[in-house]
Amino acid sequence: MTGKEIITKFKTFFIEKGHVEIPNAPLIPENDPTTLFTSSGMQPLIPYLAGEVHPQGKRFVNVQNVFRGQGALDDIDEVGDNRHLTFFRMIGNWSLGDYFKKEQLPWMFEYITQHLNLDPEKLYVSVFEGYKEIPKDEESINIWNEIFSNVGIDPKERIFPYGPKKNWWSRAGVPENMPVGELGGPDSEIFYDFGAELKIHENSIYKDEKCHINCDCGRYLEISNNVFMQYKKNANGEFDNLPQKNVDHGSGLERFIMATENEPDVFKTSLFYPIIQTIEKQTEKNYLDFTREMRMITGHLSSSVFIISAGVTPSNKEQGYILRRLLRRAIDSFEKLKGRELSPIIESLVNQYKETDPVLVDKFEEIKNTILEEQGKYEHTRKEAIKFIQKKYSLTPTLSHRERIKGEGVGDELMGQTEISADDAFILYSTHGLSPTQIKSLGYVFNDQEFANKMKEHKTLSKTASAGMFKGGLADHSELTVKGHTATHLLQQALRDLFGTQLHQIGSNITSERLRFDFNFDRKLTDEEIEKVEQIVREKIKDSLPVHFEILPIEEAKKVGAIGLFDEKYEKQVKIYFIGGSGKEGDHNAYSKEFCGGPHVNNTSDIKSFKITRQEKIGVGKQRLYAVVQ
Ligand code: ALA
Repeated sequence: MTGKEIITKFKTFFIEKGHVEIPNAPLIPENDPTTLFTSSGMQPLIPYLAGEVHPQGKRFVNVQNVFRGQGALDDIDEVGDNRHLTFFRMIGNWSLGDYFKKEQLPWMFEYITQHLNLDPEKLYVSVFEGYKEIPKDEESINIWNEIFSNVGIDPKERIFPYGPKKNWWSRAGVPENMPVGELGGPDSEIFYDFGAELKIHENSIYKDEKCHINCDCGRYLEISNNVFMQYKKNANGEFDNLPQKNVDHGSGLERFIMATENEPDVFKTSLFYPIIQTIEKQTEKNYLDFTREMRMITGHLSSSVFIISAGVTPSNKEQGYILRRLLRRAIDSFEKLKGRELSPIIESLVNQYKETDPVLVDKFEEIKNTILEEQGKYEHTRKEAIKFIQKKYSLTPTLSHRERIKGEGVGDELMGQTEISADDAFILYSTHGLSPTQIKSLGYVFNDQEFANKMKEHKTLSKTASAGMFKGGLADHSELTVKGHTATHLLQQALRDLFGTQLHQIGSNITSERLRFDFNFDRKLTDEEIEKVEQIVREKIKDSLPVHFEILPIEEAKKVGAIGLFDEKYEKQVKIYFIGGSGKEGDHNAYSKEFCGGPHVNNTSDIKSFKITRQEKIGVGKQRLYAVVQ
């Protein structure tokens, strides 16, 4: 069964059960400052899981391209084992306060056993065993009891409770790590057993431990995660019930492929094996002998290909930095195997994904050039790093750079070793962007402990920064964020009042500290213009305009002059926020009319102040304004 067939069967199954298909959201979220990448299918649905009304209804299905390389969902270091990938396609369905456990669990079992044709004998499930005020999930246990009994399987050997580390899901991980306002809930996962006869456990590093369904040995594979999203963390660190009980289900397409092919190594499935074979050719080495390296090349390059196709280029910041890390890891492994050319591997990768993601074919040249350019830059960086050290330590260059980077790493006789200080190693890390392994592969040794201490300091700093990033923004629904959100609509309209309706939003990013608004405009605003914009927004705040939303057919929304990006392929009904007019349903005579998911304040007078703090040019014909509200 191809990936495309699995997807089609899934969509058909849920559409027949009244689900509406929603689009694959961009891999780089457009209006979500809380995260660098879309890392799960639920992300675009957060306001609706929290209780906002969704214009398309209460049942949804989609396939979401996701990347897990940051925060609690960082799997970059996991790549290299039999199943972890940082980029994958997440097949999902959602109930926004509609059906719950007794529909979801039997449906997933039916889909997996009757549509993917997996043998029920090979399936196991986990459920939440309870934690603090959240009780054990007896309801799911009862449902699974019945499901297994109905197919003649003794449920006692199939259902296993686990604590929050395994059976609680939120974007931030376990309950303690969730910021205030974050949504989460217990989950029930489905596992596929590759079988004792393969002796996977016995041959793994876990052989001395008892094997169980959540064991990391790879015998059991989690293929489906059904989250019962029903809680929100409050300021006391406890959990409040959400206004509705939601289902948030996600399954990795690549894992369904592994199970349907009964292949415990994702890199040997029909999706990835042709890529591995291309790597074997380019390196003249065998997958069996260099399994980990070839997995890293394949896994990191496939994520990179999708990130590049989303418009990211390698850099030292945000998404660009993550992309750089992925590419350099792939290149390290490739060089270790003395690989010849990356291009045929990129080509093979695009080929393997083209059925589900044809956009990669259109962007092939761009993808290839970006990767090859980064390969060149990486080589240059290492040259510079070597120069820096040679100068500082007055070393005579004895080996050519090529010899150095093609060497086999520390300990290689050709390389020799130069001892450098942990401070200098840290400079190579922080300014040249080289990892400790990469520094060592240039022939430098340093005090690992001192270096680790420096890293720890650095990590604490960046963790603080990323925690702030996670906390802020629309997802937290804090009062200031919601006010900032309404002020952003007023700001857009004020700019249009002054400069005409060709001006429109090209991005926004709202945290509780400030709002950021990007728009198409070819110059800086003058001080007078900034003042004028502020004046208009403040006037609208003073006028105490009511804010309300309506769900309208897309044609109607266009007719009333609502602005925003509609996705006509998927959206028949859209949610429009009106600011102004009488605030009554049906009164479309408002000051601002925008396509938006919400949430917003009820009346502009809830906003106490508005001030533009900064402006920036962010590209050709693109301006950015920052503002604060209270
Ligand atoms: N949101 C859940 C996950 O990403 C389904 O695993």
